[in-house]
Amino acid sequence: SHRIMLGPLVAAIDQGTSSTRFLVFNSKTAELLSHHQVEIKQSFPKEGWVEEDPKEILQSVYECMERTCEKLTQLNIDISNIKAIGVTNQRETTLVWDKETGEPLYNAIVWLDLRTQSTVERLINKTPGRNKNHLKHKTGLPISTYFSAVKLRWLMDNVDDVHKAVVSHRAMFGTVDSWLIWCLTGGKSGGVHCTDVTNASRTMLFNIHTMEWDPELCKYFGIPMEILPRVRSSSEIYGLMKICSSRKSGALSGIPISGCLGDQSAALVGQMCFQDGQAKNTYGTGCFLLRNTGPKPVMSDHGLLTTVAYKLGRDKPACYALEGSVAIAGAVVRWLQDNLGIIGSSEELEKLAASVGTSYGCYFVPAFSGLYAPYWEPSARGIICGLTQFTNKSHLAFAALEAVCFQTREILDAMNQDSGIPLTQLQVDGGMTSNRLLMQLQADILCIPVVKPSMPETTALGAAMAAGAAEGVSVWSLNPEDLSEVTSEKFEPQINTEESEFRYARWKKAVQKSMNWET
Ligand code: G3P
Repeated sequence: SHRIMLGPLVAAIDQGTSSTRFLVFNSKTAELLSHHQVEIKQSFPKEGWVEEDPKEILQSVYECMERTCEKLTQLNIDISNIKAIGVTNQRETTLVWDKETGEPLYNAIVWLDLRTQSTVERLINKTPGRNKNHLKHKTGLPISTYFSAVKLRWLMDNVDDVHKAVVSHRAMFGTVDSWLIWCLTGGKSGGVHCTDVTNASRTMLFNIHTMEWDPELCKYFGIPMEILPRVRSSSEIYGLMKICSSRKSGALSGIPISGCLGDQSAALVGQMCFQDGQAKNTYGTGCFLLRNTGPKPVMSDHGLLTTVAYKLGRDKPACYALEGSVAIAGAVVRWLQDNLGIIGSSEELEKLAASVGTSYGCYFVPAFSGLYAPYWEPSARGIICGLTQFTNKSHLAFAALEAVCFQTREILDAMNQDSGIPLTQLQVDGGMTSNRLLMQLQADILCIPVVKPSMPETTALGAAMAAGAAEGVSVWSLNPEDLSEVTSEKFEPQINTEESEFRYARWKKAVQKSMNWET
C-alpha cells in the first residue's frame, strides 16, 4: 500500500478535566488528520471534593496515542512524519509525586475542588481589610480555592506521604502538564521537571511581572521552592519522548515535546487571537473567556483574572490576558446525567431543551464549586428557583443551558467594562459548541453574534502550533499571514434586547439567592 506524502505533522496531547485527547495535524494546512479521545473518571470522596487518578490520566494519554497511531497507519500516514508534540492541560489541578519511585503520593486535586474553602477564608480574614485581592498585584489572582497553592498546602498538611517526601527531598509538585512531561520524558529515570509560564501563572506562587517563582509567595503559603518545576516558555524543546518500545505508542519515542500551554491559553492561540483586544470563549467542563491584552498585564476592576496568555519562545515577549472564569458549564450536563438521571447524553439535553424552547421562568445557578468570576464567592451553592407545578425536566434542561449563557454574559460585561472597548462578536470553541441551541441562546443573551470555527479542536491546535514553531523544530510558522483562513459559522441574535435584558435581570436575582441562601 502507498504511504501518503503530507509533509511535517504536528501532534498535541489535550488533557482536560473530563477527557484526554491526542490529535495529529498537518502543519501546512492545520487539517486534523486523526485523533482519539478517552473519558476521565472524577471521584467525589466527600462533599465539595473533586479528585482524579494521576495514573489513569497518564494511562489515558498512552491509550489515546496508541489508538491515534493505529488510525494513522490505517490511513497510510507515516508516524515518523510527526515532528513535534505539544501538551495542553486542565490548569491548576495539583499533583505531588515521588521522584525516586515515580509514584503519585495522592490523587490529583482537581481545580474545582472546595476542600480548601476554610483555609481560604482564614487567609482572607488575616489580610488587611479582609481583602481577597491581597496578592493580586503579583499574581493577577484573588485568593481562592481555585488555584494550586492552597491545594498543595493542603496536601503537605494532610497527607503523610506527601509530608514525608517533602522532608526527605523526594517530592515533586506539578500541574498536569508537569506530571505528563516528566513521565513522558523518562519519569524516574531522567524525566524533565518543568512547566510553562501559562500554567505557572495559575498556581498563585508565580510573579507574573518577573516571570519567576516568587520567594515571598512561597513563604506565604509555606511551600519549599525545591519541589517546584522549572518554568519555561510555552514553545521550546523541553525534552524528547521516551516510551518503552513494548508499548504500541513506542513509535513516538524520540519526538521532541516542544509546546506547553494551559488549555485556555492554547485555545487563545488556536483561535489565532494574537492581537491586543482579540478574545475567545471556550465551553469545556467550565467556561473561560480570555481577551489578549498584549505585552502588558492589565489589572481588572471587575472581578476578572490577569493571567499569562503565552510566551511563544524563550526570547519572545510574554503576552497577557484578562480572563473571566466560570467553574460550571459542561459539568452541569454531566450532573443532570449522572446525579439526576434526567438525560442519557448531551445530545438528549439539547433535544429536551429545544422541545420547550423556554425555561418557563425557571432559573438554575449551578454554583457547585462556589461562584468564580466576577463574584469569587466560595460559599455560594447551586440553586434552582422559579419552579411551578407546570415546570418539567425539559424546562430544567433549558435553564441549565441558559445558565451557561448568562454566566458568559456576566464575564463579557465585566470584560467590556474593564477594557472600555466592547466586543462586537464572540469567538467560541469547546465541546459544548456543537450544541446549536446553546450557541443561538448565547447570541440572544449577549446581543452580539457568536462565531464558531468549523474545526472545533482549537485548544489542541494551539498546543500543536506552539510545538511546531519551537526553535529547533520550526515546521510551523506563526505569522498570521501564513495561517490559512479559518472557516466558521455565525449565530446572530434573534430576540429583542428588551426580552434578553429581562431574563438576564432575573438571572442576577437568582445569583444573589445562591450567595445568600444560608443567611
Ligand atoms: O482552569 C481550568 C481549566 O483549564 C479547565 O478547562 O476545558 O477542562 O474545562 P476544561
